[in-house]
Amino acid sequence: MIYFDTDKINDLNHLYKINLINSCAGYKSANLIATKAADNQANVAIFSSVTHIGSAPPLLGFFLRPTTVLRNTYENILETGYFTINHIHQKILKDAHHTSAKYDKNISEFDVTDLETDYKDNFYAPFVKNCPVQLAMKYVEEYDIKVNNTKLVIGEIQGLYIKENALEKDGFINLSNAAIATINGLDGYAIPNLKQRFEYQRPKI
Ligand SMILES: Cc1cc2nc3c(=O)[nH]c(=O)nc-3n(C[C@H](O)[C@H](O)[C@H](O)COP(=O)(O)O)c2cc1C
Repeated sequence: MIYFDTDKINDLNHLYKINLINSCAGYKSANLIATKAADNQANVAIFSSVTHIGSAPPLLGFFLRPTTVLRNTYENILETGYFTINHIHQKILKDAHHTSAKYDKNISEFDVTDLETDYKDNFYAPFVKNCPVQLAMKYVEEYDIKVNNTKLVIGEIQGLYIKENALEKDGFINLSNAAIATINGLDGYAIPNLKQRFEYQRPKI
């Protein structure tokens, strides 16, 4: 095994360190968060930190990097109260990754990629067309994480669209059936294959 202690981690060059630390938590969820500013400009950006917060009420959260530079997604969410979460799938990996580029507020990532907006059921924010799982989200609250000046932004699920072949009888979303991606580190993508599901576990003794 290769061992890194605190001193060794602190001394690593920047790129090596962000690659190492961004990979060490394991595979991460791969999502596009789409928003629409009050002036109607649509925005979409990749996030690998979307995570389950709770089921009742149905909540998801994501971690936002420090707002020392302009964060269009966050600004739009605060301005309008709404956003969508769209699962990244095999066919859009390259464009999804490109949405991490720092475009000005007046340039929509939808215009510089093949990603398309999908407005439906009068929801304010656009969905990303053809994503097999699309969630309509309403901003609820946020927490400042003091240690590194990031935020946890929490939203409530208002609507959930799932491609037919991905939804199983018991409500389980089979992400493999829809070729949904996972993120390894900052720039690695995989399409996992579901191996097995297990029953609810009870103590053996
Ligand atoms: C694989 C990957 C994952 C990312 N995950 C996050 C994340 O979880 N939180 C975050 O604030 N930025 C994340 N980013 C960076 C944003 O995508 C980037 O800051 C983007 O420019 C934000 O766009 P916006 O200004 O339109 O909101 C990630 C970038 C990449 C390449």
